[in-house]
This record gives sequence, structure tokens and C-alpha cells, in this order.
Amino acid sequence: LNASLHLDPARIVAPVSRRTFGSFVEHMGRCVYGGIYEPAHPCADADGFRSDVLALVREMGVSLVRYPGGNFVSGYRWEDGIGPAAGRPVRRDLAWHSLETNEVGVDEFMRWAGKAGVEVMYALNLGTRGVQEALDVHEYLNHPDRTRLAELRRANGAEKPYGISMFCLGNEMDGPWQTGHKTAREYGRLAAETARALRAAQPEAELIACGSSSSSMPTFGAWEAEVLELAYDQVDYISAHAYYEPLDGDLDSFLASAVDMDHFIDSVVATADSVGARLKSKKRINISFDEWNVWYLSRYEASRSAITEWEVAPRVIEDSYNVADAVVVGSLLIALLRHSDRVTAACQAQLVNVIAPIRSEPGGAAWRQTTFHPFALTSRLSRGDVLDVQIDSPVYETARFGAVPVVDAVATHDDGALSVFVVNRHRTESVSFTFPAAGPVTEAWVLGDDDLTATNTQDAPDRITPRPLDVAAGDGTVRVTLPPVSWSAIRLG
Ligand code: AHR
Repeated sequence: LNASLHLDPARIVAPVSRRTFGSFVEHMGRCVYGGIYEPAHPCADADGFRSDVLALVREMGVSLVRYPGGNFVSGYRWEDGIGPAAGRPVRRDLAWHSLETNEVGVDEFMRWAGKAGVEVMYALNLGTRGVQEALDVHEYLNHPDRTRLAELRRANGAEKPYGISMFCLGNEMDGPWQTGHKTAREYGRLAAETARALRAAQPEAELIACGSSSSSMPTFGAWEAEVLELAYDQVDYISAHAYYEPLDGDLDSFLASAVDMDHFIDSVVATADSVGARLKSKKRINISFDEWNVWYLSRYEASRSAITEWEVAPRVIEDSYNVADAVVVGSLLIALLRHSDRVTAACQAQLVNVIAPIRSEPGGAAWRQTTFHPFALTSRLSRGDVLDVQIDSPVYETARFGAVPVVDAVATHDDGALSVFVVNRHRTESVSFTFPAAGPVTEAWVLGDDDLTATNTQDAPDRITPRPLDVAAGDGTVRVTLPPVSWSAIRLG
């Protein structure tokens, strides 16, 4: 098969937003306890954080981390996690049927975020709580001094305010599983009033209203429209969440998951812009795609009723990712990047152990899952501007999405250098792929394998890593062969 990419450095979608390379740390399973934090581990630093995990987070190129949930946040009392460790209560976490010790709270997490070099997106509880509690945690986090909660933060060791810019106004409030689930009308009003109050404290805060938990929600589209009708002037972003898995063994559709992500983004942009038009507003609402990943959700749903004990940090959804999963993650990053004009923040969910690119064992090793690699390479090599490219590709048939292009790609351009990210979704055919470019090839990587089910494990942590890709360049054309079910990154100039 043959495919080609047409690009013109003058045709720009938008600058690459560093916030596209966000991740997510939820108090869930072993993401916090036994993930980023394990004081008894030989690699633990003075604050109890695993330095081996921190090194992998830095290597992965994570820019932003959403915290502390997720479904967890909708029952969370932030003040349980501050002050002397001995006084912190143990609470039930209804979202994940487990016990929260509150050993890690916001001050510890902000210390970890400083070490990891990441910005924090803080999620507020609008499930069981409201405007006052949102203002309280905001005062604790961001007010400089003299007020009761700012002085409490200072007494707890954080002299300076944390200066958090991005706040999620709740989590997945459209989902009936959410503690404190609301109708669009109930939520839209609460989001607007919470945002109005927060803005009085911090006018430049970047506020994210909850959008849909998935494009398959029965309220998808209508939810965004109603919430934005009520909160358009008060918020900056609407969120989107999407998880993908192969359903009924349908690998062809799974490999085309980015088609759903593209549709999701285009639909939310159209909905937001139509509300803006009705309101005669010049303001544009962007998308925070603050949960996305491959998640074998149906396996979790099937095993959920077996969870009867109340445990601290149980093993929950520790999916092992294979080659096909990594190719899908790479293709989802292509979809996010190509929408950089409207998707200016995104968080892969989650960071460690829980549906995560990084795995760790208690007292043992930390390693990179297959999905770590496309994220790390895309974060490192996407620079400058995202280009508006055109792709000529053959198509293949899928049960879920009909005819889908075999090849998908995106390119970024900076100071004469070009990075191209490309996926071949075909299960059996290689693709000869060309694009116009001059300049020396500085890096070229391919991620794929004859065994699509191969994973990285504690014993074989590097079974799947990117391999060098052969590139033929001359006469202003670059030519590569993309193996079946593979993701590649090529940098020139
Ligand atoms: O990331 C796991 C869960 O998925 C989050 O807690 C929730 O927001 C989503 O449904």
C-alpha cells in the first residue's frame, strides 16, 4: 500500500500547547499509595516519593497533572489531607470502594509536582460539596497570606501560594455513577456560580466545566449545550473524557479509535460555538480533554461486584498494555495534536499503576509500559506549530466506523525543523509512506512488533521499545516503510 502526506509550513493549525502532554493522578488504587508515594521503598526520597517513578515521569515529558480525581473527588474533603499526619482521618472512598488514609494531601502532592516539574490542574468537589468549599480550598491553595486558610497553609509549611491556574469544576457530573450526579441544568447553575465566585478571587483563573464522560453518553451534545448556556461567560473550557478498548475482539475498529476522538472533539467544538453564536459572544470555549486512554473497561465492569472488602490502595484496573494499545495511544495523540486550535489541554489517565504508562511494584521495580513510548516521543518531538496537513491514504473497513484511512498523521514545524507522527492501522499490510521535506533526518523511530499482544513486564521491562526506523531522503522527498499496526515518529532539520 502507498500513502502520502502533503504539508506546507505556512499552513498552521495552532502552536503546540505543552498542556497537551498532561496526565492524571487520582486517589485511586495504587496510583498515589504504592505509585508516586511509597515511604518504605528503597528509592523513596525524604518526602516518601519514589525517585525511580519521578525519573520516569520526567522522562515521559509530562507537562501537567490533574489531581486529586476523578470519581474520587466527588466525595473528597480536601481538609482531611492537611496538617499533621497523625491527625488525618481515614475515610471511605465510595467511588472505588476503598479506604483513604489521607497520608497524602494537597501539600504533599504539590511538593511532588514541584519535583516532577509539572503544572497542577486541581479538580474541585462539586458532587457532595459546593461554592463555599470550592472557595475554601482555593483560598488555601492560592491566597497569599493573612486570611485564615492562607495562614493555615503557611503554618503547614507552604509559605508561598501555589498559584494554580486551572481548576476543574467537578468531575463527570453527567454520569449516574458519580457521587452527587446532577442534571445538566442543576450542574450548569452550580458550575456558573462556583466559577463566578472563584473569579472574584482570581480573575485570570482558567475554569473547566464538565462536559461528557464519553461520546456514547445518552446526553452527549445536549449536556454540553445546556451547561454552556448557563455557564458560558463564566468558564473557559469544557471537558471531554474518552476511553477505548477492543470490543468483541474487533481490533480493526479499536485501531481506528481516533476516529471517535476526532468526532467527539468536532462535535463539542460545534456545540460550544453554536451556544456562543446564540449568546452573541465573541468568546471561544476550548476543550480540556482531561481524561483519555486505552482502558479495558469491560473487564473492570465484569469484576466490579467482586470488590467487597474496604482496603487501602487495592490493586484496581492495573491494565497491562500491549503493542496494539501503544499504537492506539500514539494515534490518539495525533488526533489531539491536530486539534490544537481548540484542544489546548489534555490528560492521559492515569499516570502510575492505574491504567497507566508507568507501573511499579511495592519494594520493587518501576517500568515503562508500551504506551509510555509514543507519549514520551510525541511530547519530546512536537515543537513549534502544528501544521494543517492532508493525507492521501487507502481505506479499510471497520464495523464501528465504516471506511477508515489506513494511515493517519500529524506534523509540527519549528525553526525549519519538522516532526511527523504517523500510524499504520492495517493489520497485515506495510505502507510505503512519503512526504515532502528537506534537511537531515535527526531521529526516526517505529513502535510495532510481530506479536501485537506483547507487553512489558517487571521481568522483561524493555520487551517493547521504539526501534530505529529506516528513512530514505532525497530530492526533497522522505520515504519510509510503515510496518502493519505501527506508530512512527520522524524528525528532520
Ligand atoms: O480514570 C478512572 C476514572 O474514569 C475516573 O475516576 C473517572 O473520572 C472516569 O470515569
